[in-house]
Amino acid sequence: MQKINIALCGTGNVGSSFIDLILQSKEKIKSNYNVELNLNLIGSRKGKINNSDFKGKIETDILKVPMSNEVDIIVELIGGTEISYELAKLSLKNDKHFVTANKSLIAEKGQELFKLASDRNLHIGFEASVGGGIPILRTIRDGLISSKINWFKGILNGTSNYILSKMYLEKQTYEDALKSAQKLGFAEPDPSLDINGTDAAQKTAILSFLSFSGKISPRDIFFDGIKHIEPIDMEYGKELGYVIKPISIGFNEEEKLLLGSFPAFIQQDEIIANVNFETNVIEVNSKNTNSTAFQGPGAGGYPTSSSVMNDILDIANGKVFDYSNLMRKIEVNNFDEFITKRYLRLMVKDESGVVAEISKLIAEKDLSIDNLIQKEKNKTEDIIPIVIMLGECKESLVSLLINELENLNQVKGSIQHIRFIE
Ligand code: HSE
Repeated sequence: MQKINIALCGTGNVGSSFIDLILQSKEKIKSNYNVELNLNLIGSRKGKINNSDFKGKIETDILKVPMSNEVDIIVELIGGTEISYELAKLSLKNDKHFVTANKSLIAEKGQELFKLASDRNLHIGFEASVGGGIPILRTIRDGLISSKINWFKGILNGTSNYILSKMYLEKQTYEDALKSAQKLGFAEPDPSLDINGTDAAQKTAILSFLSFSGKISPRDIFFDGIKHIEPIDMEYGKELGYVIKPISIGFNEEEKLLLGSFPAFIQQDEIIANVNFETNVIEVNSKNTNSTAFQGPGAGGYPTSSSVMNDILDIANGKVFDYSNLMRKIEVNNFDEFITKRYLRLMVKDESGVVAEISKLIAEKDLSIDNLIQKEKNKTEDIIPIVIMLGECKESLVSLLINELENLNQVKGSIQHIRFIE
């Protein structure tokens, strides 16, 4: 029977679940795959772990772990791009396969690491870096190999989805919803990375690289966070038949990509619109299969560890996928080119001629108004919201329009702009 020795670095929430999972599933893997997975070394700065079933060694100097002669695969569950980056390079240079759940490491340093792995015929597994427990990366890499992927869209950040769901479905405040996401443990140590869209943008970069086989940097992804979304926008959207979700998109239009992660209105009856709280979802549209959707837990110790186990089994089955082959040059459109319908909410002085002024600026840009809503009940003091749904228009043009509208005397504060994703 083949025996594979594994070292784990990082013993936080995901690391601890991984120890549990690999020890629990050992017998099943032995009988189904004829492989013995042997967790024999753990890198832990604290020097101790809370699992009495682990009988191997503990190393407090994480960067010494790759030097061990008794290890075939290094599993990195530390996070960030500092020590984990050093660990990745050292692992590959010491001829160890490398498995990680770390999206920032893969999004930021993937190109360099894939080249290193390719030179040494080693495998890098990163299934857990996108969509937690959803086996989406292998589905794109292997399952949809015979199909050209036209687009994907989905929810890749559980924290943002949780907050928006709590606000929409349970009328919670943003602050209370964030606190509870942190308590439940799926927010990043610095939750601003979830809230401002960085986390979803990194995952979008990884999905795009695999979906479209091209060199993608996180800098290619337009992103925006959810902090500016207000309950009133959710109410207006509901009336129009839409829900606000933290959406990530990758569109391939004639070999030019359009990539982004931002809060968007999506029709209430779409699959994605009905995926709530911390759950993630990815819908992939390809030439031969049309649309397929994958939904599940995007974070958490056991779901993430389950994806890590998938990667380990890939290696146990002899898979060495050369991701450096996917690094072709590909054109990514500037987000200014993005064409879609728009929701604008303006807070204006309630006086005559305001709507005429606004309409004039919109007409001058040759843009069309699909809907305009003004409600007396939402008036406070002398200020009233006006909601305008613009027909399809380019990002660059709507930015100019917003600038001009914000300069009108009757318009107070900044304008809320939310994109529609059809
Ligand atoms: N912080 C991430 C999220 C989970 O909220 O989706 C790990 O990727």
